[in-house]
Amino acid sequence: MNRTVLILNGPNLNLLGRREPEIYGRESLADIESAARARARALSLELDFRQSNSEGELVTWIQQAHERCSGIVINAGALSHTSIAILDALLACGLPVIEVHLSNIYRREGFRQHSYVSQAARGVICGLGSEGYLLALEAMAKLAKAAGKG
Ligand code: DQA
Repeated sequence: MNRTVLILNGPNLNLLGRREPEIYGRESLADIESAARARARALSLELDFRQSNSEGELVTWIQQAHERCSGIVINAGALSHTSIAILDALLACGLPVIEVHLSNIYRREGFRQHSYVSQAARGVICGLGSEGYLLALEAMAKLAKAAGKG
């Protein structure tokens, strides 16, 4: 059974830890990856954790996930608010999608309060910092079980 969850991170998330820490926290993306790996192991999930600053690369990875993965957890960063290409790729891949944001985008500027990704997402977690990624993995394990992959 395919138990691989793809966690995708979009532009500027490679800067976590030093990027506006009062909004995004002091953990680096590598810290978040280690915590996600530990949680995935505990849930018997395989984890593929990636980051790209390029919209096209993210679209390609989403397309490839169709064959390789059981679900996608995505923090598309600013592309959440602009990218119909990422939305279309997520809709086409046919996998369960959970959208994550470290910050509560609904307490921020108006332009962050709409996400194209949400339209493809089974669920959205925002405002809980890095814990959101771990909660998304918990939810993904349950979705995989319900789909007969657990
Ligand atoms: C973010 C929120 C986005 O608005 C922003 O552009 C990011 C990070 C978050 O995780 O809170 O890059 O997705």
